[in-house]
Amino acid sequence: MTLKNPYDDLAIKTIIEPFQIRSVQPIQYAKAHERPQALHDAGYNVFLLRSDQVLIDLLTDSGTGALSAQQWAGMIASDEAYAGASSFYRFEATVRDITGFKHIIPTHQGRAAEHILFSNIARKGAVIPNNAHFDTTRANIEYLGAEARDLVIAEGRQPQLIHPFKGNIDLDRLRETIETVGAANVPLVMLTVTNNSGGGQPVSMANIRAASAIAHEYGIPFFLDACRFAENAWFIKLREEGYADKTPREIAREMFSYADGCTMSGKKDGMSNIGGFLALNDDALAQQCRNLLILTEGFPTYGGMAGYDLEALAIGLYEALDPDYLRYRIRSIEYIGEKLVAAGVPIMQPTGGHALYIDARAMLPHIPAHEYPAWALVNALYLAGGVRAVEIGSVMFGRQPDGSEKPAAMELVRLAFPRRTYTQSHFDYVAEVITALFARRERIKGYRIVWQAPVLRHFTARLAPLD
Ligand code: F0G
Repeated sequence: MTLKNPYDDLAIKTIIEPFQIRSVQPIQYAKAHERPQALHDAGYNVFLLRSDQVLIDLLTDSGTGALSAQQWAGMIASDEAYAGASSFYRFEATVRDITGFKHIIPTHQGRAAEHILFSNIARKGAVIPNNAHFDTTRANIEYLGAEARDLVIAEGRQPQLIHPFKGNIDLDRLRETIETVGAANVPLVMLTVTNNSGGGQPVSMANIRAASAIAHEYGIPFFLDACRFAENAWFIKLREEGYADKTPREIAREMFSYADGCTMSGKKDGMSNIGGFLALNDDALAQQCRNLLILTEGFPTYGGMAGYDLEALAIGLYEALDPDYLRYRIRSIEYIGEKLVAAGVPIMQPTGGHALYIDARAMLPHIPAHEYPAWALVNALYLAGGVRAVEIGSVMFGRQPDGSEKPAAMELVRLAFPRRTYTQSHFDYVAEVITALFARRERIKGYRIVWQAPVLRHFTARLAPLD
């Protein structure tokens, strides 16, 4: 018989970080008066700052999280054999257990999996539908002469509209696209879970199931971009009828069951600093992908990762599915979101999985798209608080393959939270910086581009402030 706790009725509600910190890394207190020069020297592009010039680094949640003691232990005990390392077999068994896919191909990160997959299936004239392609996915497809087409539901493009699954793909437009361009020209249908470019918004199980059914009706393979599959599974548990009593692991398994394969960046829900994989069921395609893997990444039992990276992933993938971790993870983003909404700051609602997105178009209506409002807000956040965020707007997406400019669908500033890294007081600080800036938003001015690379320009572009 279990003893009853006499204080059960206290119903303590605070959700805590479900870990204690045993190893800390001091934050360099980048001095506020040094930031204007640092930003100037970086060409007004926060990608070009040194990390010790940044106080709170929310540039990305990719590869920036903290490892667990279990991961470190596994890494020390890793097997670094070139071929057939036991670390690979542990990694392979984990990925197969979680996804159910037959062929597991390790890559050094997500974009390598994308490149290998698309190089084998995409060609000039092909169209690859997705709810929304992330920038590297889009670039890999366009690099091969194919078209990356975003078909997220209309609600997904309205930042302040509340909808439980704003990452869903528009099923009618998916069918229409296949009918119009012809199934033979659609080598793959993809869904990104959660939808990063669209605000970290989840995709429902019903939508995954239906998109898969449409693709299969036309004989087209259906893949997931699974970077944040665990966070997506948690949203399904919270928001979709029939999943409240299922574990994140069961939900994830069902998500993957509708797909023929996935690309994965282990740097997100693999809880790892590097690594990724391509997983799929098709024997012939897997063989072609492995051939290219050997050419560009490495032998199929390490594929661009060290044995210790394979171990970190094998352990991290399960840790990402831990309900206590996911509850804290999703709640901490919601927590900062609530503070900002209370202060009137326009943010993407409801808050998504890994990041908070500020709607810069709504916050800075005095800055037109061609003066890059979201970029301007990113720079203001750095100057005001040493906080590094990232623009997901017209600098990232505005340049078309033919070189022309088109304003992005949304002007968002993403604050992506590294996993298990910052505590509630860091979140409070960030909320205070944003709120203070919001109160003085008319001071923020636009930018112009001074130099840019032909593709993925946001990483290296140099800009100048407009007076
Ligand atoms: N797909 C999605 C949805 C992503 O968010 C990313 C990376 C990738 C693919 C590529 O994975 O970086 O391992 O090559 N997103 C990072 C970010 C960079 O900051 O959101 P990768």
